[in-house]
Amino acid sequence: MRDIERLQQEIDQLKNELDVTIVAHYYQKDEVFEIADITGDSLELAKRAKESGSEWILFCGVGFMGQSVKILAPEKRVAMPKIACCAMARMIDSTYFDASVEAMKKAGIKEEDILPITYINSGAEVKAKVGKMGGSVCTSSSAVKIIEKAIKSGKKILFVPDRCLGQNVARMMGLKSAVIGIDSDEAIKEADIVCYNGFCSVHQLFTLKDVEFFKKRYPGIKIAVHPECDPAVCEVADFVGSTSQIIKYVKSLPEDQKVAVGTEYNLVHRLRDKNTYVLSSTKPECPTMNETTLEDVRDTLQAIKKGDVINEIFVDEDTIKWSKIALERMFEYLEE
Ligand code: 13P
Ligand code: SF4
Repeated sequence: MRDIERLQQEIDQLKNELDVTIVAHYYQKDEVFEIADITGDSLELAKRAKESGSEWILFCGVGFMGQSVKILAPEKRVAMPKIACCAMARMIDSTYFDASVEAMKKAGIKEEDILPITYINSGAEVKAKVGKMGGSVCTSSSAVKIIEKAIKSGKKILFVPDRCLGQNVARMMGLKSAVIGIDSDEAIKEADIVCYNGFCSVHQLFTLKDVEFFKKRYPGIKIAVHPECDPAVCEVADFVGSTSQIIKYVKSLPEDQKVAVGTEYNLVHRLRDKNTYVLSSTKPECPTMNETTLEDVRDTLQAIKKGDVINEIFVDEDTIKWSKIALERMFEYLEE
């Protein structure tokens, strides 16, 4: 028996003995993805993990994802087989958030006219700041709906931390955007959406040159990308959507339709057939998503069994209170 199968069996046995739900994001390695009870994009995982009946959630993903489950369901115990952090989420903390509010004030916008929206790829402290200012969380699949709702308030949106997602949503909605630290005070004052200058280094790997290459090589090919990609790439793509939305789009295409996909390698590789390509000449892997191994999952389950878990997620009460408000506002907006 192969090592992978042996480990997967060990994990199954431990899972049967324990009150644990294993959750995995689409970007996890195949062998880890296969043993999960719940899989999905970041919105689906947050929703479904909080509703699961188990005492323990074993989250195979990056830190903000496990943390979001802990915030939404503080009574649950959440452990991560590897404490792996999303590099984009690490680009902003509460100090940088406050500095962004100050930059907008310096450009002539009053604090009471600012409504912050944070991408779920951010830490609990940033979500709490957003919650306190009356703002909401969004995910890549819910960003348009949340910003449509937020813009109705008549306020200026401060969008953190992903510049590309903010700029892409602004373009799709016909709104003006500006980036703090890049654009002038006048441009910031004029903009409907003011973006923090954070980004995902994995999604920056997809370039216009890659699009040109695939279109020239395979005339008629479709291009599908994640909204964390550069706005110039999203503008020429046939489809822009979250990880789940990309999967649905690719599966909806006729069998002989070629498509090049611009998102993390593990997801695209799983979709791969003779007509589905990775939109890159490199291997666009998210380094931290790829950190989690079957050994880590097995070891964490054994630690739960022994009552000796080291990778458990904790968030203090006040941060839970305000970040939960920001996360739940997203669910309320989506239901309205
Ligand atoms: P999704 O919301 O599409 O799952 O994306 C999360 C993410 O981190 C993409 O890089
Ligand atoms: Fe974060 Fe980018 Fe990895 Fe997604 S792909 S988890 S945004 S670093």
